[in-house]
Amino acid sequence: MNAVRVYDIITKTRDGHRLSREEIRFLIDGYTKGTIPDYQMAAWCMAVYFKGLSAEATAELTMAMVDSGEVLTWPELGEVLVDKHSTGGVGDKTTLVLLPWVAAAGVKIAKMSGRGLGHTGGTLDKLSSIPGFRFDLDRAEFIQAVEEAGLAVVGQTGNLVPADKKLYALRDVTATVDSIPLIASSIMSKKIAAGASRIVLDVKTGSGAFMEELSRAKLLAETMVDIGAKIGRRTTALVTNMDQPLGHAVGNALEVREAIATLQGEGPEDLTELCLALGAEMLIQAGKVDSPEEGRQVLLEVMEKGLPIERFRAMVAAQGGDPRIIEEAELLPQAPVCLDAVAVSSGYVNRIHTKRIGLIAMELGAGRRRIEDDIDLGAGLEVLVKVGDKIEAGQVIARVYGPNSEAVENAVRKVEASIEIGDRSVEPLSLILARVSR
Ligand code: URA
Repeated sequence: MNAVRVYDIITKTRDGHRLSREEIRFLIDGYTKGTIPDYQMAAWCMAVYFKGLSAEATAELTMAMVDSGEVLTWPELGEVLVDKHSTGGVGDKTTLVLLPWVAAAGVKIAKMSGRGLGHTGGTLDKLSSIPGFRFDLDRAEFIQAVEEAGLAVVGQTGNLVPADKKLYALRDVTATVDSIPLIASSIMSKKIAAGASRIVLDVKTGSGAFMEELSRAKLLAETMVDIGAKIGRRTTALVTNMDQPLGHAVGNALEVREAIATLQGEGPEDLTELCLALGAEMLIQAGKVDSPEEGRQVLLEVMEKGLPIERFRAMVAAQGGDPRIIEEAELLPQAPVCLDAVAVSSGYVNRIHTKRIGLIAMELGAGRRRIEDDIDLGAGLEVLVKVGDKIEAGQVIARVYGPNSEAVENAVRKVEASIEIGDRSVEPLSLILARVSR
């Protein structure tokens, strides 16, 4: 057999020809080890950007990336490990609510999460506003926390998918991030390497999402579900709306407060609804129920019994956090200054510039511009209105929390400009835009 040459792989991809498993493995292996230079890999990424990859090649790429590093398995926790992933949004505290809720329905959850960057937050940052909460559990502690509480959330450990770290950094500087097969293989490889056997995806779309256009978000969801089917990791995706913040709170401690209220059955409608929909999919994947309707019913029953907040309490305690935050919210970090944003005219909320809201929260200190930045856990905002709401002039539409009056006043002005109020009445936004399953 002829030796594989990177030049030929780039040419084949550029000309839209299929790559073999051997060629994809050669490429990823060589790039991870450093025998293939950045300039050739950048050319290949650009070829993929323009020509795409077949479904088979995308699945091969995913598995080649998985095999570039450590692959975790969790035999102690049983055969099926269901994981959930969100492509990221503004005010997206879904994981904090969903996982204890699903655990309350009898599914063991062992989750690895990340930190936030830019206008979207990360689960670890939100949880780090709970005094004492530890993410750095070793394997034995992690398993013990899952056994004790039914769920545990830790930071990523080990050398998972080194190919993705290198490739993502290269894509970031070569304008090739925005390629569906590259995004899909990047996300799925990380889930699989962390040990997920079944996956539920929340693919967000709209002005606060990474994938703004609905058609592209659907394509991303389909591509990831297809990868899952091809490699034997059953995957379901919901495509959901990010044209307004999820719930009200945007910012770490504020989001924990809102998550606690939701786990007590008193949360915002959209957040509760999304957790019911994703939770039902997780119960299907775990083999507990046969349909989304049955899954919702089970989740509503456990909520009726008050079980989700008890799972959250057990998780916090098992990971060294102070569970008194559930009853005493003032134990969470609080910003020293809080001011209201008000509507300057009467009318209907026509549009919320969601990415801008995320960026305002970031500028207040709730998020990071660069990975090494520190964050202010008490800072952020609560957006109190939704698209379609009828508003009176002078009504409070948001509350802004920050470190000093100047920063908060500045943010209030920006929030007022990010919530468009017009005479035209508009329909409330649909939350769940598509379900993709095989
Ligand atoms: N998120 C990821 O994990 N990978 C991508 O390529 C894009 C977004």
